Amino acid sequence: MPSWGENLYNWHYRIIIMKVGFIQMNIEILDVKKNVDNAINLIEKNDADLVVLPELFNTGYNFNNKGEVLGVSEKIPDGYTTKLLKEFTENTDKTIVFGLSEKTDKGLYNSLAIVSKGEYIGKYRKIHLFFDEKDFFLPGDLGFKIFEIDGIKIGTMICFDWFFPESTRTLALKGADIICHPANLVMPYCPEAMKTICLQNRIYSITSNRVGEERGLKFIGQSQIVGPDGKIIFRASEDKQKAFHVEIDPLKSRDKNLNPKNNIFNDRRADFYELI
Ligand code: ACM
Repeated sequence: MPSWGENLYNWHYRIIIMKVGFIQMNIEILDVKKNVDNAINLIEKNDADLVVLPELFNTGYNFNNKGEVLGVSEKIPDGYTTKLLKEFTENTDKTIVFGLSEKTDKGLYNSLAIVSKGEYIGKYRKIHLFFDEKDFFLPGDLGFKIFEIDGIKIGTMICFDWFFPESTRTLALKGADIICHPANLVMPYCPEAMKTICLQNRIYSITSNRVGEERGLKFIGQSQIVGPDGKIIFRASEDKQKAFHVEIDPLKSRDKNLNPKNNIFNDRRADFYELI
């Protein structure tokens, strides 16, 4: 009996080599300049073309009250952090995906922004807020977004969004090649769960988490990159800063064939998924 070997059925048309990575970092609550400087130092040590930073990487997470969050929130794209990272990517091949608190006329959002080669590309606002975040932020209102950079489709979600299979399924069905996932993980489940999520959608994911403790809240580290076969390409430690990158072929995500008779998207039976 032949096994359903990956090599037999990988029929994607071309191979693209892309350097993707994450920054796993320590974050100092309310010290935006220190956190942005630390991130830039770590990015400079990293050769990734696409690099993902944690959720709220410039502000910290465990806020005492809304006034604290407001004091470190910024407009996107005209605030300090987005402008600085955009300028940092000028004359480079770099794309950076990073989480920050977004100030708007309606209120605050737990958002991420993307800058690439000196340009602002866009933003996403976290849809599924976790625990005390509900006291500070409005739920995201922009939907799940795909950003195309040099022909590669980048899907975005923030931390707890992973817990809802609809988030990753929506991104995969919209054509994402890579899910970029800034996070501040405190529960232990996500790193293992992302293996199944990537397998079920045959997609890459890059989760960037933070390390350390903040006002008694411990973050679990274990930032990682997972491939469309559900295998971990690299997982960082639970407690150390790390700038990591690896070469991948993002177009592998476009091959949804599991074997000659099963294409995981064509085989969906949406008529029977009536509750969603
Ligand atoms: C989380 O969504 N930051 C747990």
